[in-house]
Amino acid sequence: MENIRNFCIIAHIDHGKSTLADRLLEFTGTLSQRQMQAQVLDNMDLEREKGITIKAHAIQMNYKLDGKEYVLNLIDTPGHVDFSYEVSRSIAACEGALLIVDASQGIEAQTISNLYLALEHNLEIIPVMNKIDLPHAMPEEVTEEIVDLIGCKPEDVIRASAKEGIGIEDILKAVVHRVKPPKGDPKAPLQAMIFDSVFNSFRGIEVYFRVFNGTIKKGEKIKFVSTGQEYNADEIGILRLDKQATNEISAGNVGYLISGIKVAKEVHVGDTITSALNPGESLRGFQEVKPMVFAGIYPVDTTEFEELRASMEKLQLNDASLVWELETSAALGFGFRCGFLGMLHMEIIQERLEREFNMTVITTVPSVQFKAHLTDGSTIEINAPSEMPDPTTMDSIEEPYIKAQIISKTEYIGPIINLCIEKRGQIKNQNYLTTDRVEMTFEMPLSEIVFDFFDKLKSISRGYASLDYHLIGFRESDMVKLDVMLNGEKVDALSAIVHRGKAQEWGRKLCEKLKELIPRHMFEVAIQAAIGQKIVARETISAIRKNVLAKCYGGDISRKRKLLEKQKKGKKRMRQIGTVEVPQEAFMAVLKIE
Ligand code: GTP
Repeated sequence: MENIRNFCIIAHIDHGKSTLADRLLEFTGTLSQRQMQAQVLDNMDLEREKGITIKAHAIQMNYKLDGKEYVLNLIDTPGHVDFSYEVSRSIAACEGALLIVDASQGIEAQTISNLYLALEHNLEIIPVMNKIDLPHAMPEEVTEEIVDLIGCKPEDVIRASAKEGIGIEDILKAVVHRVKPPKGDPKAPLQAMIFDSVFNSFRGIEVYFRVFNGTIKKGEKIKFVSTGQEYNADEIGILRLDKQATNEISAGNVGYLISGIKVAKEVHVGDTITSALNPGESLRGFQEVKPMVFAGIYPVDTTEFEELRASMEKLQLNDASLVWELETSAALGFGFRCGFLGMLHMEIIQERLEREFNMTVITTVPSVQFKAHLTDGSTIEINAPSEMPDPTTMDSIEEPYIKAQIISKTEYIGPIINLCIEKRGQIKNQNYLTTDRVEMTFEMPLSEIVFDFFDKLKSISRGYASLDYHLIGFRESDMVKLDVMLNGEKVDALSAIVHRGKAQEWGRKLCEKLKELIPRHMFEVAIQAAIGQKIVARETISAIRKNVLAKCYGGDISRKRKLLEKQKKGKKRMRQIGTVEVPQEAFMAVLKIE
């Protein structure tokens, strides 16, 4: 155990985590340059395109220093708020962390919150300043930020360039010298923590674990503590570039397990693996992940419902955090109400449905979960506007609140505070990292972050602000259901639950936006927003007068073609509501309200 080091990398998106990991693999000879693809650690297509490491993986390297052989386990952590629970489990599996900060950007919100997680787990932090090769790197300022943040000495900050291969050896040496070797008793009853799993359609789910005590042996009967399910450890092994089967893995080490599990739901990140015959206690820290954002997913073509159901079932096999149930909408027909970890997770699911399963879907307005306390003393959870009870039967309603950390240049403090106040937020703390960088803490409703908050934050700060948040609980709020009607017909898929103080303005803007998005028809279309029986806003789309093309565009052929193309594209995602044709964008119009 003396020669094992388990470490992870904490970094903000794009600060160079994947590139640096590749360099470490290369330097230790774990992979030759020839084997090296662009980036080994992110191997899902979608991940690469989004530039975000979505699924944590682990890889083992051998490294010789001062005549001794060391085993270094690098555990990759996802870098997005939606996956923060997975980050916390990856961190819990390590004794040390490389804290990577981009020398041209400085510390970002994500870095800080993951750093706090690492400190909570008593990890040794090795600060690394990456991208020192960049001409606009600010090594002095960024070193100062790091020193202020973690209280190290300036000379402890390793200067590196993953791109140019600078500082790589220093990093490996620091891992060996500064990260503590794992503790644990290889002879005690087995306790291994699951920190990740990967779906493999041929062999079943691969479970990645860190052994804290005991030894897991090939072929033995094992048990997952949270579910009580027992399996046979058909294959165990270590994770090199490929999987390498072994006969046993002991306390302190990291490995994978294959035992014919077909359904992701049976494997919970954070759960403890133990021996079925000689069980150990559950390791602390297991927690069910809960969906934070809900939305309806419907097939564009109603005849594809069964196909969509089959696709959703397959997706759920390899993504345990996706939950769904059947939902029917008067406007959209049969579909699914889905729960996601966050907005990015929702986007990923929608994209996977389209790419991997070739489905064309309509996603409805995302919403958070509300809790309604009814006059009869009961409490219900509301995951969709349609589930909102009649106001007369309700005592009160609660909505989820988050603590948001925002880091930005000081010149944007004013606009950021204004934005947060507009989003019903309250500033709680303001802390200067350096003279021109500030960390602000807000408490605000999650529902306000779901819509366009991040985009707005980026645009008012010219891309300089970073955001991280976590749930702090539910608070009472005055929420109402806002309905939308097209020619008098209620469109349930366009309803939203909004704060009363904002409902009227919301209704007005939504109607305006819908007017832009819904094409003109041969008849007039009335768009109305209502709270209960009360109409709060109205817009009218006037009827087409015969031939649009000839009239509007005076015969310019290329513009005509463009218009026709546009209409054709739009057609794919049109939905008939009564007599009105509504494009997909309209169902997401709320996201675009200014
Ligand atoms: P996510 O996986 O999205 O979290 O990003 P990451 O932190 O893994 O960053 P990645 O390694 O993908 O690097 C982001 C960008 O920075 C890429 O374009 C890299 O080529 C570039 N990059 C990484 N390290 C360096 C460096 O040392 N110098 C320079 N100039 N560019 C670098």
